Amino acid sequence: MANQPIIRFENVTKKYSDDTTVLDNVSFEMERGKFYTLLGPSGCGKTTILRLIAGFIEPTDGTIYFNGKNINNVPANERQVNTVFQDYALFPI
Ligand SMILES: Nc1ncnc2c1ncn2[C@@H]1O[C@H](COP(=O)(O)OP(=O)(O)OP(=O)(O)O)[C@@H](O)[C@H]1O
Ligand SMILES: [Mg+2]
Repeated sequence: MANQPIIRFENVTKKYSDDTTVLDNVSFEMERGKFYTLLGPSGCGKTTILRLIAGFIEPTDGTIYFNGKNINNVPANERQVNTVFQDYALFPI
């Protein structure tokens, strides 16, 4: 449906290990067609959120929805996610 959020995090927890809880029960929505900025100190979990949306990693708990569907049921190549890395390289031509 056109009016449902393109991304929805529902009570998402991500731990990299028992003592590394990066996201603790996080919920938010992103509307289709809008621009968002993830802002926070180094290590707060910005890249972790993007990696979860891209499907590179899975939540420890909670659910992520892409366009209303559980993202687990949406193949990575249908998630319309692209990445520009913060590290870059220049090549001579
Ligand atoms: N693969 C991993 N294994 C264990 N811990 C990790 C892993 N990836 C990230 N972390 C830890 O999770 C936390 C969040 O990392 P993340 O990369 O999401 O932060 P960030 O907000 O993107 O930081 P930055 O602004 O430096 O890019 C950090 O404490 C980091 O050390
Ligand atoms: Mg980062």
